[in-house]
Amino acid sequence: MESIKALAEQHGTPIILFSENEFSRVYQSMQSYLPRVKHHFALKPLPTQECIKLISACDGYLDIASIGELALVKSADPSMVARTVYTHPIKKESDIEEAARSGIKTMVAENFTELRKIMKVAPQMQVLLRIAFPNEEALCNLSERYGADEERFERLYAFAHKIGANVIGCSFHVGSQMQRPDEHVNAIVQCRRIYDWVFDNFGVRFKVLDIGGGFPAKYKKTDMDLELFCIPIRQALDEYFDDGTDLWSEPGRSIAANCHVAVTQVIGKVFKNNRMWYYLDDGVYGTYAGMMYEEISYDLHPTKYNEEEPILSVFAGPTCDSIDVILKDVMYQPLNVGDYLFSIRIGAYGWASRTQFNLLAESRIIPYDFDLQEIEEYIEESELVFA
Ligand SMILES: Cc1ncc(COP(=O)(O)O)c(C=O)c1O
Repeated sequence: MESIKALAEQHGTPIILFSENEFSRVYQSMQSYLPRVKHHFALKPLPTQECIKLISACDGYLDIASIGELALVKSADPSMVARTVYTHPIKKESDIEEAARSGIKTMVAENFTELRKIMKVAPQMQVLLRIAFPNEEALCNLSERYGADEERFERLYAFAHKIGANVIGCSFHVGSQMQRPDEHVNAIVQCRRIYDWVFDNFGVRFKVLDIGGGFPAKYKKTDMDLELFCIPIRQALDEYFDDGTDLWSEPGRSIAANCHVAVTQVIGKVFKNNRMWYYLDDGVYGTYAGMMYEEISYDLHPTKYNEEEPILSVFAGPTCDSIDVILKDVMYQPLNVGDYLFSIRIGAYGWASRTQFNLLAESRIIPYDFDLQEIEEYIEESELVFA
């Protein structure tokens, strides 16, 4: 991968190569896989102005979790505020006020206190009530933290109706990096029942259904393919919500993962305890931060393969902390200080979760339209074996 090496030499490391094409390509794929759905790209895995502009260019929509993200939207493309949903279920009163003042039309609530807050400072606000669909298998079981179960939903909606809240529908998030679409399908079916209950009991027809995020990125070959994942969801939406309901989603990871390639350099090495320790200028407090709290590991690939006998190796990040290790005890070709390594599909929740620990140099994002398929072919062609 001479091109990656050349960029590392030109810009210094650590860097992240950001492919606009790859980002837009995945977003447009989702638009074609689920054509009836307005996909609100969740900014949290990759909150940058560039992403907002690209979503705008795709005639897309955004999902924000904070006033900080709202400020980013306003600075990147103020026209996108009208196409943004504020989905964090818990907000400060001042945040609700600021969002309403800025032009946010819809936000999410999941409890009585939040509804009261919204009614107090932004009574016209459209509200989506978040429903919990617990899912122990998910990489991140978000329903444990947020969402009303069905029994609480019924009381919550009755309360919302009584106080005149402008509830336009429901939202859910079945968990991140789902490997089967069954939970989404199940949630859609349950929502049909809930929407019918609301109509039967209150004569109100909800206008919107928001099916959240959770769509998979393809970190490993065995990970679920996004297009296949969407097929049963499209069928369920067509079967249960063919009544003109406005359909929304909040995909984050699936859109953001592919567009980053992280490039780091070997800055030190030592042989001890029968393995070679390599120290890199990026690690789990930097671009690889997602590894700290997700069960996702990232392989490191050399920009040039060599024929030398692989040796037992450990790849550590640049901080002084013992947990700052990216790969442990892998068979790897011998490397020298100065060599470059890269990781693919690291765009979601990596750079976004970086810390300032040790005040080390942060990875800089360099726009570069790499060809992910070509990089994957290079990786596959190698004879490198990870033990
Ligand atoms: C409310 C909400 N919407 C969307 C997302 C994005 O989810 P994902 O990255 O799994 O697509 C999250 C992730 O935490 C979330 O909390």
